[in-house]
Amino acid sequence: PSQINLAVIPGDGIGPEVVAEALKVLKATGVDVSTTEFPFGASHYLESGTILEDSDIAELAKHDAILLGAVGGDPRDPRLKGGIIERGLLLKLRFALDHHVNLRPTTIFPGVTSPLAEPGAVDFVVVREGTEGPYVGNGGSIRTGTPHEIATEVSLNTAYGVERVVRFAFEHAMSRPRKKLTLVHKTNVLTYAGGLWQSTVDRISAEYPDVAVDYLHVDAATIFLVTKPSTFDVIVTDNLFGDILTDLAAAISGGIGLAASGNLNPSGEFPSMFEPVHGSAPDIAGKQLADPTAAILSIALLLSQSGHTDAAAKVTAAVEADLSTRGTAARSTSEIGSAIADAVAQN
Ligand code: NAD
Ligand code: IPM
Ligand code: MN
Repeated sequence: PSQINLAVIPGDGIGPEVVAEALKVLKATGVDVSTTEFPFGASHYLESGTILEDSDIAELAKHDAILLGAVGGDPRDPRLKGGIIERGLLLKLRFALDHHVNLRPTTIFPGVTSPLAEPGAVDFVVVREGTEGPYVGNGGSIRTGTPHEIATEVSLNTAYGVERVVRFAFEHAMSRPRKKLTLVHKTNVLTYAGGLWQSTVDRISAEYPDVAVDYLHVDAATIFLVTKPSTFDVIVTDNLFGDILTDLAAAISGGIGLAASGNLNPSGEFPSMFEPVHGSAPDIAGKQLADPTAAILSIALLLSQSGHTDAAAKVTAAVEADLSTRGTAARSTSEIGSAIADAVAQN
């Protein structure tokens, strides 16, 4: 594969700290990459008054892929109320670049301590829908601020949107040894949206006789993710359920600092965007306390999705080796990044 033309959005808080380490590791693979940095995020908004213009999106779209650290400023700042950065930057990019698959793998790597006493062999992936559901901003409020306020937030589910992510999940299940797919929804209450998801899975499953399909209500799924996480293989679910389940998944696999994700545009019409699952972590920002592993594993996802399979495997192996000997020694963000980058360079 040829050169990767990578757009980098370090963002806010620990974003720039973990992105610096991810780029160290990417350079160490020897893969031919050119990077262009973009300043978007809460700080950029507070300085410039703009979050993300259409021309910015057009500029980003010229790249082969995007690496994003995290965005989100000081939660107490009234100028950032209501998630304007999250919606105006992160969600805007996922929607504009049609990132309908949000791929979030969970593995308990050897040597990593799970908060679960006996988790077993945990290796599953959540295929989270990325462009629909309650995230679309279809809602409103009347009589706002009064005791009679009425607020709605409508979940949007299209046959087209559900089918394409469900198809992706079936294809993904076919590439894995266990070939098991679990739909997670809330069909006992969310009759209409749940009905569309269930009937779509039922219909597509006829084309994939080798994939074993089952279903869990989202509340029960949180039980089994804690009590029997090794039974999951591929989970397909909507945007909001997927958000919640993947923080839980991160927690059981040893922490949010290890969880990687890819916002994929599988057709390749637009660049995919890779980012750790975690946010800007204002509580630890600027102290070199953040674990850069999630950002580094997001680089492995980027490499594998862009055809650099060997380089991806090298990064994953270096992360695994680092995790297996990590123990409880306190290391800075950059010490962890450098150790993994050195291991990649020596391979
Ligand atoms: P968060 O993920 O930033 O932090 C949750 C907890 O996990 C905090 O205690 C934090 O210190 C810890 N943590 C996060 N990443 C870590 C790492 N790499 N190493 C060690 N510990 C880590 O979630 P939050 O506090 O709910 O959100 C903070 C801000 O980030 C908000 O503005 C939120 O909207 C935003 N956010 C952005 C993204 C993104 O850009 N993709 C994702 C989630 C949240
Ligand atoms: C994530 C984040 C985002 C989401 C927020 C910041 C919009 O929590 O990537 O998991 O909800 O998708
Ligand atoms: Mn989240």
